[in-house]
Amino acid sequence: MILVTGGTGYIGSHTCVALMNAGYHVAILDNLCNSRIEVLNRLARLCPVRPDFVEGDVRDPSVLDSVFARYPISAVVHFAGLKAVGDSVKNPLAYYDNNVNGSVQLLRAMQRANVKTFVFSSTATVYAGPFDEALRESDRLGASQPYGHSKLVVEEILADLQSAEPDWRIACLRYFNPVGAHESGLIGESPLGAPNNLMPYLAQVASGMREFLNVWGNDYATPDGTGVRDYLHVMDLAEAHLAALHHLQTVTSLSTKPLTLNLGTGQGYSVLEVVHAFEQASGQKIGRQFAPRRAGDIAQYWADPGLAKQVLGWQAKRGLQEMCADTWRWQLHSAKDGEPS
Ligand code: NAD
Ligand code: WQD
Repeated sequence: MILVTGGTGYIGSHTCVALMNAGYHVAILDNLCNSRIEVLNRLARLCPVRPDFVEGDVRDPSVLDSVFARYPISAVVHFAGLKAVGDSVKNPLAYYDNNVNGSVQLLRAMQRANVKTFVFSSTATVYAGPFDEALRESDRLGASQPYGHSKLVVEEILADLQSAEPDWRIACLRYFNPVGAHESGLIGESPLGAPNNLMPYLAQVASGMREFLNVWGNDYATPDGTGVRDYLHVMDLAEAHLAALHHLQTVTSLSTKPLTLNLGTGQGYSVLEVVHAFEQASGQKIGRQFAPRRAGDIAQYWADPGLAKQVLGWQAKRGLQEMCADTWRWQLHSAKDGEPS
């Protein structure tokens, strides 16, 4: 059985679908600080069985010990955490507590339960730049804000743990820009309040919930002047977790370092390219205006996903049209049914 922390959240819920449809049994631990219990009903419709669910906090050792005592857990996929860069600048301690302390508490509970296979949600935000070429795992690291720093600290903790105890099997997966939703339209991303991220904001403009998109900056040194990112369909990302878990569970030679992989498509798209693709997918005209650059943004970055392909045999299959079409289907479903996640 796989323990999925943060499994009712955006990426966690899609990964649960991939895991359960591949035959894994799943137990979710989530404190519901950024997701809804209704997601479990949606998962039950998308998967052969309903996942087990424990409402609780990864920072709570007694909750963790009871989860490991109750379920025959063989591996942990750790999504639980806080993820808003701007919020982390205002509330750094909340981010270090949730993301760093939460991970340490979880790893200590795993040690007590003798469970040593761990997949960690890291981020492309750990790269320091320069960003003029595809980012590789060996590139320079450094984060300019507490969120990214909290992820980098956990990566370092995992490296120390793996070096001290080589029987651990650890993967750090650095996601680029996850977007989209399950093709059923039953689960997706439901940001609280006004979305910070481009794709959910576009979906709300297309549906008439918001008037127009602010395009943050059109004077970057990119082909059309707007920011370029490596958007990745959340189901491709979910399938990468499945591949990483399978790899960790079957690899025969133990390692002194965590397996660290970029997860992206390798292809960057500008804000305007995403807007046009979303107009095509939704059939809606999207109002936009150019606005000053957003503080902290960089012009462009995209992944070199070659190592993930080499080690896991994984590569993203879904393109920008599918990312937009699935986001739009989810937007229409969630507006109709009430937002489940
Ligand atoms: P999300 O907020 O939708 O999911 C996180 C889940 O964790 C939520 O269900 C929340 O309720 C739960 N949670 C938070 N703190 C918890 C705690 N202390 N104990 C138990 N549960 C807790 O976010 P997501 O987009 O699905 O991201 C999942 C992971 O991937 C996060 O660690 C995030 O930092 C990382 N990540 C996300 C992105 C992205 O763009 N979405 C990119 C890179 C990395
Ligand atoms: C993409 C592009 C914006 C909104 C963030 C986090 C990162 C990672 C993924 C967790 C940029 C532009 C956006 C809008 C716009 N999360 N934009 N108008 O900033 O690349 O990454 O999410 O690990 O850590 O920083 O994603 O979707 O916010 O922005 O013009 O209303 O869209 O300027 O060029 P970002 P994003």
